[in-house]
Amino acid sequence: MEGEAPAEPSLENMKKFLILISGRGSNMAALLKACRKGRLRAEPALIISNRSQAPGLEAARDYGVRTEFVSFKDAEAGEQRTIDLAREVGAEFIVLAGFMRVVTETLINAFPNRIINIHPSLLPAFPGLHAQKQALEYGVRVSGCTTHFVNTGVDTGPIILQRVVEVKPDDTEDTLSARILEQEHALLVETVNLLADDRLHVVNTRIVNISRN
Ligand code: GAR
Repeated sequence: MEGEAPAEPSLENMKKFLILISGRGSNMAALLKACRKGRLRAEPALIISNRSQAPGLEAARDYGVRTEFVSFKDAEAGEQRTIDLAREVGAEFIVLAGFMRVVTETLINAFPNRIINIHPSLLPAFPGLHAQKQALEYGVRVSGCTTHFVNTGVDTGPIILQRVVEVKPDDTEDTLSARILEQEHALLVETVNLLADDRLHVVNTRIVNISRN
């Protein structure tokens, strides 16, 4: 009705999504915390880990979110199980948050432009493992983090958002990683909200017209 205040976000009418992790799960926890505080416009419905002992699973249970271990030793079977679980919980998109597996066409074709990843560098620089170490060894003055849609390459999909982090002369891999991680948490929440609001449109390999508010 005209003049009426916009409805408060409620879990009932929010899009649901999956989070895939492999380890610590601090990016996942940032999303769960934002959701609890009413700052996320989508609902994390299920956390999947490809490692049964991933510390992030325990953290997710503390937030009261359903968790599942899915083996990806057979990638095809792991991805099929993930698709089945996504359908079961009604997930509309997938967030890779420290998920250390390259996904294949099986999962990507089931969720076209609906899978995002967070990476600890300013892509296309330093894809793959140990991005912060790669940045330090190269001698860059700034690095940062990137969210992007996932394609079959390693960290090559369309870039959504990036944040810059200064590299200090006395940085170690640990100190740089910690400062980047802080930015990752905020960037991932912002990116999930854009996705939840349908504000990300991929044209060829680029995302056009992101209107941020
Ligand atoms: C994060 O820094 C994330 O960007 C990185 O793994 C870490 C996971 O931490 N991901 C990649 O390097 C993917 N190529 P978390 O488990 O605490 O979120």
